[in-house]
Amino acid sequence: MKQVLLNDGNEIPAVGFGVFLIPNDGSTYRAVREALDAGYRHIDTAVAYFNEQEVGRAVKDSGIPREEIFITSKLWLQDYGYAPAQKGLESSLKKLATDYIDLYLLHQPYGNMVHAWKALEDAKAAGKLRSIGVSNMTPKIWNALVPQFDLKPAVNQVECNPYFQQRELRALLEPDGVKIEAWGPLGQGNKALFAEPAIAALAKKYGKDAGQIILRFEVQEGIIVLPKSTNPARIRSNLDLFDFALEEDEMAQLRALDKGHGTHDPDAPGVGEMLLRNFNVHENE
Ligand SMILES: NC(=O)c1ccc[n+]([C@@H]2O[C@H](COP(=O)([O-])OP(=O)(O)OC[C@H]3O[C@@H](n4cnc5c(N)ncnc54)[C@H](OP(=O)(O)O)[C@@H]3O)[C@@H](O)[C@H]2O)c1
Repeated sequence: MKQVLLNDGNEIPAVGFGVFLIPNDGSTYRAVREALDAGYRHIDTAVAYFNEQEVGRAVKDSGIPREEIFITSKLWLQDYGYAPAQKGLESSLKKLATDYIDLYLLHQPYGNMVHAWKALEDAKAAGKLRSIGVSNMTPKIWNALVPQFDLKPAVNQVECNPYFQQRELRALLEPDGVKIEAWGPLGQGNKALFAEPAIAALAKKYGKDAGQIILRFEVQEGIIVLPKSTNPARIRSNLDLFDFALEEDEMAQLRALDKGHGTHDPDAPGVGEMLLRNFNVHENE
């Protein structure tokens, strides 16, 4: 598996397995076991996915040494601020049944970010977190918030796929070695994207499927991808990206698919309040 070097010296596998919207009714456990069997060594979960516990159990039961698996989780909005973030992190550690997390993100860029980030910096210094990062930061949000942080984030996990290639953000983050992680790397299953003629032609040429062409393109662009699937065949195929390479003119054809915007606009007014209202991670406590 290709590894990507982060700006804090740690390495992250270029392909991770995403578990957003996989329920905590045994499905997440089964999908993560399937992914680990297929060769994934990087799992992307979050407090707000309500499935950290099943991820932790699947990792333990796999028998694979903990240090060989890269686990990401993300703090949710109700836990922002210094003390709440510390408490939220302890809860993630407990649910994941681990004494450290490889990468912990501030999931959404609203509310008391600065104090929550300080808690993550201190947890990193204490060895509970190996790397820390943010998510859903647009250039505007990045420029407003990150100058207030002591440590630069290692990653910014954002919507990214051939239709929304995040060029402005990538140019902004590059000088600091901040890596983009793509959420929705397959356009969340967008059928129009899979049917793009340029993608279909490359799939034919390389004997791959459209998903593999899209993911290979992103990985070749230096982006960390987190494809999600509950289908065992797709779980496997989404990792099978390393026996071919796209040529420069083919990369250019796929770069030309960029529409410059995605399905989610973190800058839109009221998004933070809406997310806080709609996802309450303490609802069942
Ligand atoms: N930070 C954030 O705010 C944020 C937001 C969204 C997501 N994420 C992370 O990013 C991960 C991925 O994003 P996502 O789950 O939204 O979208 P995605 O991975 O782009 O797409 C998943 C969808 O595509 C389908 N699919 C998977 N592989 C396929 C293939 N090879 N061919 C055709 N269809 C395929 C899946 O269906 P099947 O299951 O039936 O295969 C599912 O419907 C999440 O799981 C989560 O870890 C983070």
